[in-house]
Amino acid sequence: MTRIVVVGSINMDLVTQAPRFVGPGETILGERFLTVPGGKGANQAVAAARLGAAVALVGALGRDAFGDQLQGGLDREGIALEHVCRLDDEASGTASITVADGENQIIVVPAANARVTPAQVEQARILIARADAVLVQMEIPLDTVEATLRLGHRLGVPVILNPAPAQKLPAEWLKLARYVTPNQHELAILLGADPTEDFRMLMQRAPCPVVLTRGSDGAWYREQGEPVHQSGFHVDVVDSTGAGDTFNAALAVFLHEGLPAAVRKACAAAALSVGKLGAQGGMPGLREVETLLTRTG
Ligand code: RIB
Repeated sequence: MTRIVVVGSINMDLVTQAPRFVGPGETILGERFLTVPGGKGANQAVAAARLGAAVALVGALGRDAFGDQLQGGLDREGIALEHVCRLDDEASGTASITVADGENQIIVVPAANARVTPAQVEQARILIARADAVLVQMEIPLDTVEATLRLGHRLGVPVILNPAPAQKLPAEWLKLARYVTPNQHELAILLGADPTEDFRMLMQRAPCPVVLTRGSDGAWYREQGEPVHQSGFHVDVVDSTGAGDTFNAALAVFLHEGLPAAVRKACAAAALSVGKLGAQGGMPGLREVETLLTRTG
């Protein structure tokens, strides 16, 4: 069984489905409200577990009602939570999400996620040493992201850095990642580059291997110096929240099959994930991914 360690955020997502996004000072009537589990770290952990991996999560929750619900949900997904701490003096992270026409707008309040420490990563050293891949995103403190990259690199375990939400990072850190997985906008921010620059040029200039996600247009990566495009799988979109997380999880789970196979499966899994409301609502199992790949040749 593939072993994955995820270092990242855990949020309660407060999701409002609306006919359109609101402007400043405007009030409209929404269609539906849901409180569902989310957070990039938790989403990636859940997606990897549904794809059949043994998953451990490193993170933090408040000792509050959201924290109890989130912990219970992750536990039911079979995710090892020994390295998720509960903080008595902090709230659990939240994300206020508006979904309109399959697109989303998100405001994250990190709360407990802002207190995931490098020491917690070090405490998970044995798990990380035994892992097939490690996933880390940027909704936790940057020194914890750096600690994860350094430890994975030192132990020879591939670390996939999903640079979301994006910030400019030192080239030295990026070189420690096996793959960095931005979208075009995130890649430009990460490199401190002009966002209108062609993404293929940006990928070439990056100091690390990049797997660039393009939503329904699939993904790009480089093989022997040449850009390769993996097409997206066309599906009806209900809610794209969590599609990037599903992509990253599948990439990590299938990395041992080689990059082209892993990216193809990651695109298929991400496509399946957008069919239901909520970040984790549509995340597929292994059989659903295999069925889509067989059906589409
Ligand atoms: O990637 C989607 C996630 O981003 C949501 O679940 C929300 O919690 C934010 O972290």
